[in-house]
Amino acid sequence: MGITKICCIGAGYVGGPTMAIIAQKCPQIQVTVVDLNEERIAAWNDEDVNNIPIYEPGLSDIVKEARGRNLFFSTDVEKAIDEAQMIFISVNTPTKTYGKGKGMAADLKFIELCARQIAKVAKENKIVVEKSTLPVRTAEAIKSILDNTGNGVKFQILSNPEFLAEGTAVQDLLNPDRILIGGDTTEEGQKAIQALVDVYANWVSEDRILTTNVWSSELSKLTANAFLAQRISSINAMSELCEKTGADVNEVARAIGMDSRIGPKFLKASVGFGGSCFQKDILNLVYIAKSYGLNEVADYWEQVIIMNDHQKRRFSNNIVKTLYNTVSDKKIAFLGWAFKKDTNDTRESAAIYVADDLISENAKIAVYDPKVSRKKVLADLDYLQSRAADENVNSVLSFENPYEACFNAHAVAILTEWDEFVNYDWQKIYDSMQKPAFVFDGRNILNGSDLEKIGFVYQAIGS
Ligand code: NAI
Repeated sequence: MGITKICCIGAGYVGGPTMAIIAQKCPQIQVTVVDLNEERIAAWNDEDVNNIPIYEPGLSDIVKEARGRNLFFSTDVEKAIDEAQMIFISVNTPTKTYGKGKGMAADLKFIELCARQIAKVAKENKIVVEKSTLPVRTAEAIKSILDNTGNGVKFQILSNPEFLAEGTAVQDLLNPDRILIGGDTTEEGQKAIQALVDVYANWVSEDRILTTNVWSSELSKLTANAFLAQRISSINAMSELCEKTGADVNEVARAIGMDSRIGPKFLKASVGFGGSCFQKDILNLVYIAKSYGLNEVADYWEQVIIMNDHQKRRFSNNIVKTLYNTVSDKKIAFLGWAFKKDTNDTRESAAIYVADDLISENAKIAVYDPKVSRKKVLADLDYLQSRAADENVNSVLSFENPYEACFNAHAVAILTEWDEFVNYDWQKIYDSMQKPAFVFDGRNILNGSDLEKIGFVYQAIGS
């Protein structure tokens, strides 16, 4: 019998969009997304779909189509667990901020709470799907909790990591490169795998649905993120060398990207990668490698993070140096705060670290981002605990209009690659700024020679 009721614990950047697509593509399945965060669930249920808590192109239309039909958002976690045959765990797995593995290991307390709650509530056999990114062999811990605290019912644990990228989540979910499902090699395990394959087969062709053992699946997600981040750190390392040698990193990227063994994607030099996943997952990989005594493996991957931190710091240092070694009381306009375009997610955004460095030099940061609120900007800075919250309030100005953000500024820094920045009236911006007027393009998106013609001093990454 096919699955007719799915529950997903965690209504975040992964749980929300993923379940919306399953509901849209499988009208015969009732999908309930639950979360402890009442504000978030209320926003998902907001009558105006433009107010859903996560911005992704195309998402609000899908929610509009499926919500109330077979897609539901609720805070009643237990009811949803009780009713579902298949439960996705899609809660956050941040880097630990305390105790053993602090700053490296994944904090699995939210995962464990989910497992205990499922065990307590379930009165029938269920399939539990790890959707969150988890350290390899986490399924073992989940199984142990379920089997030892449950009501004697049987659980199958599957690993089904999510490969969507924020900003293109809807397209990635509709046309995934592959769906990965890891499960037990036993007969029951294979049956559970098939049940999940059948869900995806509603819109994904079966040659793109890959099944493996649980451990390969769990480790593949960490590996994918490590490889992706490594490409960014590799091109960023070259960007610094380009600046010293007269080479241009955009030209180098094009030249190597045409080699079919390398490929053109993920070769854009920048102020550094952000987002909730790359750093957290690599630190986790480093921690796992160390825990098995594999120090060379750990050091190899840790360098990806070290390079990324260096790239962010190098960007802020260069702004200070170029502005005659002082940014004290100078207005510096930040275009962009999100960690990438087409998302309102700011977790680990390079903008936060660059702003933090410049505020420590007494600069005034004027932020404009089309999707990020002042409240979020301040919360991101406060989270670093570099100074008192009221000092951040005094150091950050926020604007709803980019021209006002740039007005009277000594420099403009591009921190996110939002498309709209390219088409601004840069002459108008130039006319309103202090002179010399500097542009630090942390995403290499503007046309440098056009800006120089206007009169800007333009600096990109890696040229
Ligand atoms: P998120 O922080 O946006 O959402 C997680 C949600 O889980 C939060 O709303 C939180 O309130 C809720 N939650 C936590 N514990 C709960 C509990 N016991 N019961 C009910 N709700 C609970 O996180 P996001 O970005 O959706 O990430 C989730 C997982 O997916 C993480 O493991 C992440 O590494 C992984 N992932 C994230 C991707 C991304 O692009 N953000 C892509 C692929 C994987």
